[in-house]
Amino acid sequence: MKISVIGAGNVGATCANEVANKDYAREVVLLDIKEGLPQGKALDMWQTAPICLSDTRIKGVTDDYCATANSDIIVITSGLPRKPGMSRDDLIATNANIVKQVTKKAVEKSPDAIIIIVSNPLDVMTYAALQAANEVCSKPTNKVFGMAGILDTARYTAFLAEELNISVKDIRAILMGGHGDTMVPLPRYTTVSGIPVTELLDKDKLDEIIQRAKVGGGELVKLMGTSAWYAPGIAAAQMVEAIVKNSRRILPVCTYLNGEYGLKDIYLGVPVVLGQNGIEKVIELDLNNEEKALLNKSAEAVQEVMTTLDNMNLFDKK
Ligand code: NAI
Ligand code: 2OP
Repeated sequence: MKISVIGAGNVGATCANEVANKDYAREVVLLDIKEGLPQGKALDMWQTAPICLSDTRIKGVTDDYCATANSDIIVITSGLPRKPGMSRDDLIATNANIVKQVTKKAVEKSPDAIIIIVSNPLDVMTYAALQAANEVCSKPTNKVFGMAGILDTARYTAFLAEELNISVKDIRAILMGGHGDTMVPLPRYTTVSGIPVTELLDKDKLDEIIQRAKVGGGELVKLMGTSAWYAPGIAAAQMVEAIVKNSRRILPVCTYLNGEYGLKDIYLGVPVVLGQNGIEKVIELDLNNEEKALLNKSAEAVQEVMTTLDNMNLFDKK
């Protein structure tokens, strides 16, 4: 297995480090446009191998896509992070160009790779990556998807565990929709060791936790002046693990929808089975009217940003 991580910043380096330390691949390549940074971080990570007892060889390169050739998985984290006062959507002008450029260069060298997008605004950048990949070769949608739902669900779950004063291990939750303030945590599908969470927390407390999860990224931006990286990096690595081990985990993934949930030609977070072919199956939940309305509202918010992308005329119209 060979994994390439594009962008050696906070999220990319965290993801590469986790993938290498957990021995998910024989080879990890960390690529950035900066000189020295990817090489230095990769060297530092390689020096953790004797401590972590990992056999993964990790190498840092500057804009050298030949080094990424024949990757099985490419994780794209390159692009600007949010600063205080910015929404994820404010990043589109810069990040769409970066995502287009790096996806094309990476796919040229690894046409069969599975592509995981992390750059924001996530749902629309994943759509941009699919279009960019298709300018190089015909790329099936099950091989191009984005990471956000695992992170957003982790935030929701962490807040629940804190409130209930119980182990995070016992909480199972599903969260859907776009990676923005309209994301849709689903209390009806949230259980604590099989007990519906609605039996353990009253509605007001649950609503408070849901609201905190929705703006969870912004809470961190305010604290740190830039966006989060530990949980996002580890979340992307969890997707790599599911693919590498073909473990067929059910995870929330930003996925191309072609009629599922009544939505077409849009990327949105939904539960899927993740395995060696990427998205093995999209799981369609029987949402009630209120949940459907929330999902549609989230899709509309993503669609608005997609219109901004369309207006940039970055891609050949089919
Ligand atoms: P960062 O600024 O630490 O790292 C970004 C890296 O991308 C920099 O090292 C930069 O040199 C590199 N880069 C820029 N243009 C490039 C190009 N053309 N080719 C290769 N590398 C290039 O940012 P951070 O914190 O790592 O965030 C990265 C992206 O991930 C941001 O867009 C951020 O908003 C997004 N993000 C998404 C999350 C999600 O849940 N999907 C969660 C957290 C961050
Ligand atoms: C996050 O949710 C900013 O998307 C990034 O932390």
